[in-house]
Amino acid sequence: MRTQVCIIGGGPAGLLLGQLLHRRGIETILIERKSRDYVLSRIRAGVLERGFVGLMEEAGVAGRLHREGYPHDGVMIGAGAEMFRIDFAKLTGHRVTVYGQTEVTRDLYEAREAAGLPTLHEVDEVALQGLEGASPTVTFLHEGERKTIRCDYVAGCDGFHGPSRQAIPEEKRREVEKVYPFGWLGILSETPPVHEELIYSSSKEGFALCSMRNETLSRYYVQVPMSDRVEDWSDARFWAALRARIPAGAADALVTGPSIEKSIAPLRSFVCETMRWGRLFLCGDAAHIVPPTGAKGLNTAASDVYYLYEALAAACTGDEAALDAYAEKALARVWKTQRFSWWMTQLLHHFPEQTAYDRRVQAAELTFLAESEAAQKALAEQYVGLPY
Ligand code: APR
Ligand code: PHB
Repeated sequence: MRTQVCIIGGGPAGLLLGQLLHRRGIETILIERKSRDYVLSRIRAGVLERGFVGLMEEAGVAGRLHREGYPHDGVMIGAGAEMFRIDFAKLTGHRVTVYGQTEVTRDLYEAREAAGLPTLHEVDEVALQGLEGASPTVTFLHEGERKTIRCDYVAGCDGFHGPSRQAIPEEKRREVEKVYPFGWLGILSETPPVHEELIYSSSKEGFALCSMRNETLSRYYVQVPMSDRVEDWSDARFWAALRARIPAGAADALVTGPSIEKSIAPLRSFVCETMRWGRLFLCGDAAHIVPPTGAKGLNTAASDVYYLYEALAAACTGDEAALDAYAEKALARVWKTQRFSWWMTQLLHHFPEQTAYDRRVQAAELTFLAESEAAQKALAEQYVGLPY
């Protein structure tokens, strides 16, 4: 098979890139390890920055997002018994849109299928060759047959565990990582959200987050030690922990119910600064991971996609200057979202090694955020999304 851009990975990054390239008349073949149903079964955050919404509009797939997404003009911060609001609309003139990543992925799959773009699912043994040459190849098993795609460029959109980053010689990869000493225990429940906006809450028992998917589907998280297992947490224990970590007004309004999904996710910050190797370009989780505190995973994948699709569109007309600048431009924004995600995590979580002094400083930072419009504007600008 022959194409202009081979996209490895059918998650949000690969699908959005493929749709935007299609709109510029650039051919792609997308290969995905899992079935479409499996990809669509993943439970992932869905707080979309303004830039992400703009890209979905540019890709021509924002119809349902605008019909069913929930515009949020602000977010609540719980600090012990207190709670205050960060007013995105007043401070930045922008908002975020709550729309599950599953729905984003579904819309993109449906658009790709409607355009008849080649998409191969359940591929295996994906390997990349000739990345430093003019015509790289991607080989893989599909439907029991070994197949080869010859292309001009490879987009590595295969997530943290995919083969693309590993295709870069180890000695050439510049990787940095921070592992946090706790995880997030998350549940999905068919209950009305406790508040119309998200509540990020820091209490002496630890961090909690109240989020939602729609008016009858809530998403909640509590910080747990990494040694905890899901089976250690009954629904009753979860609800009690959540109630104890959110301000009383919210705790009193909380509607509990059986969990329909329950899982623990570790928290890590990771960046592979080598986002280009020859004609391979890493995009999204293939290149970087953030703790979910700032809701930046999906959104940083989108900013990579923005830079990469513009560069590939130019390169396919013979101008490779933007491709040469891709890694530097993408990384500049990656590090801003890395810092914001780290800062929100530091601000809101209990760290085992914290001293009494550390906890006083953390409380003072929350008080400053509650009282300072400048501090709230800084948070708001980053939460709604810095410009691309
Ligand atoms: N071959 C083909 N596809 C692969 C391979 C492989 N060897 N390995 C992984 N994949 C696929 C995965 O099955 C997944 O569907 O690549 C896709 C990567 O998607 P994501 O992990 O969602 O990463 P990305 O598209 O960058 O989106 C980033 O989505 O998953 C969240 O937390 C993530 O919010 C972040 C956002
Ligand atoms: C979610 O709704 O799952 C969610 C929202 C905001 C976050 C993380 C997760 O920061």
